[in-house]
Amino acid sequence: MRKIIIANWKMHPDTPEAASALAIAIEKELPSPPGADVVVAPPVSFLMPVAGMLKKSMLGAQDMSAEGQGALTGGVSWRELAALNVRFVIIGHSERRINCGETDEIVNKKIRTALVHGPAPVLCVGERDYTDADIPPMVSDQVRLALAGVKKESLKNLVIAYEPVWAISTATQSAGADTPERIFRARLTIEKAIADAYDQAAAKKVRIIYGGSVSARNIAAIVGEGHMDGALVGGASLRAEEFGVIVRRAIETRSIEKRRRGAINLRPLA
Ligand code: PGA
Repeated sequence: MRKIIIANWKMHPDTPEAASALAIAIEKELPSPPGADVVVAPPVSFLMPVAGMLKKSMLGAQDMSAEGQGALTGGVSWRELAALNVRFVIIGHSERRINCGETDEIVNKKIRTALVHGPAPVLCVGERDYTDADIPPMVSDQVRLALAGVKKESLKNLVIAYEPVWAISTATQSAGADTPERIFRARLTIEKAIADAYDQAAAKKVRIIYGGSVSARNIAAIVGEGHMDGALVGGASLRAEEFGVIVRRAIETRSIEKRRRGAINLRPLA
């Protein structure tokens, strides 16, 4: 499956000049051709200047309204994003679920709108607090609720990002990213949730990636032992050189799924 690496700039940087400069710097670090889907998601105010700088990477947005147009102050529609050639949109990021009150129902509406009209949605799921090695049921629940009413044929355009909230933005603290073993369990949990809602073939069509303190140091383990199809990168995507290393390592690393499936003795998909 083609890997996907997404730069989630969140509310950085502060000016269009700085955003353009960062986009140019990232482009310089990317292999040519990139060999993966590389997506740059700047703040919505800087989509326009950044769009003009991207050649090897594609434009992404960090959120989108479920409505196509109309009276919604502050909303950003799929029509507006389409006009700027935005190819991917992050939906249901924990920062929006927690700070902006986005419920599973709202996330579901946005996912359905994006799968019908575009851009391709990157659904974020993940538990808030660390418990133990097991992936809590809320991760499966978030997947199931987000996909309610979604047609099986449109799943090929979906990306799911497993982002345990406790692992986000902790690269400089002690917590850091999740362990490869747990990341792999999360992958199997998400595959199973999709397979339960549709079938196994459907589960294999969705790209599943990891986010939460991804860095040049841990990306190989995330993709290899964690068996992820790529990463959603926050803080490290603001450092062009490191982001370039992350992209290259993600592409070079082959997953070792079979070995891991045996080693940690997980039940295969039902
Ligand atoms: P982080 O953010 O890489 O800074 O932890 C990831 C995200 O929230 O998407």
